[in-house]
Amino acid sequence: MDPKPIIILILPIILSLIATAIVTASADSSYVRPLPRRTLQFPWNPKPSSNPQQVHISLAGDKHMRVTWITDDKSSPSKVEYGTSPGRYSSVAQGESTSYSYLFYKSGQIHHTVIGPLQPGTVYFYRCGGQDPEFQLKTPPAQLPVTFAVAGDLGQTGWTKSTLDHIDQCKYDLHLLPGDLSYADYIQHKWDTFGELVQPLASARPWMVTQGNHEKENIPLLKDAFQSYNARWKMPYKESGSGSNLYYSFEVAGVHVIMLGSYTDYDIYSDQYRWLKADLSTVDRKRTPWLIVLFHVPWYNSNKAHQGEGDDMMASMEPLLHAASVDIVLAGHVHAYERSNRVNNGKADPCGAVHITIGDGGNREGLAHKYKIPSPEWSVFREASFGHGELKVVNSTHAFWSWHRNDDDEPVKSDDVWITSLVSSGCVAEKSHELRKILMAP
Ligand SMILES: [Fe+2]
Repeated sequence: MDPKPIIILILPIILSLIATAIVTASADSSYVRPLPRRTLQFPWNPKPSSNPQQVHISLAGDKHMRVTWITDDKSSPSKVEYGTSPGRYSSVAQGESTSYSYLFYKSGQIHHTVIGPLQPGTVYFYRCGGQDPEFQLKTPPAQLPVTFAVAGDLGQTGWTKSTLDHIDQCKYDLHLLPGDLSYADYIQHKWDTFGELVQPLASARPWMVTQGNHEKENIPLLKDAFQSYNARWKMPYKESGSGSNLYYSFEVAGVHVIMLGSYTDYDIYSDQYRWLKADLSTVDRKRTPWLIVLFHVPWYNSNKAHQGEGDDMMASMEPLLHAASVDIVLAGHVHAYERSNRVNNGKADPCGAVHITIGDGGNREGLAHKYKIPSPEWSVFREASFGHGELKVVNSTHAFWSWHRNDDDEPVKSDDVWITSLVSSGCVAEKSHELRKILMAP
């Protein structure tokens, strides 16, 4: 008997077991996570091969958006028609497409098409590849206020669905995701079901993401890390002068947002660090008074899970981010919520960043509910529940942060705080000399 079909059948199971072992190996073995909700079941839903699937949008430089979708048909055009009235497309943009293979899996054709220039705060109707259905998106405003929805470590379980439903009910301009998207973990078709799950939200508002450990999917000698993630979730790295999809920046209204990579080199001689310095030198706090940074592994974490995993990156990059007067840092990875005071180098600092861990989107691994006791001085609020955050940047001086717990399937506001910008507190002016010295250093 030919053993090949049996190998094809059992390989995904073996890979899944290896993935689970790798992913859980780094966790603290002393805590027990409560039961997660079941992984969602996606019935097979055959569609015409040129039908656009897994549609999502992202910002792609000033006044532009990237539309991404997948077709089974390899020859389907990478064309987006769009306009401000339903069914009437006054503009058309041509993009490019790619695909990838992962062991026995072959992806559909992944299309990336940049549209624009677009008007701010405007609803556009669009369709992909010359095919219905029609989608609609809203561009972010040109000026403050602007509202971000934030949820990391999403996965695709009953909790994920609950979180997405709550985000859908809130009025927001774009979604920020600090890593761990699909939890495909080598099982490639789960990238496809995740794309379908998030499409209703991600096709309507820009989803700006950075990568987590669950996006790695590397196999020594066979597969490089982040192949699927980079092919499917292309972010504006070229538009922001970066050489890697794993770190980039963008500006929206009065906010400069930097997305960093926790799983690529970050020491002071690394490409990422060099790019970060170059990017910070372009920030004009008159144009963008707020500076926000996202990455996956938190630097300030009093949960027992993933203790110390962010220490090396923090040692390398925190002095630079502190000199640059970063207002807020958003991280994921730990499946719980935690908010700090303004902090730097482990101590309260009025010119430090507010660190928020929000890795509680709803993944299959459940919650991390054991905390270090006593709570560190910098930790203001911590709770192991699934949920999402909303950040409304109101003007150049004030932003309102709220965290909404998924309580009995209702979004219950459980933590909120007004954050005052470092521009308004004088920190930016006070540290401008220090920043210039670091940015000028070789
Ligand atoms: Fe993670």
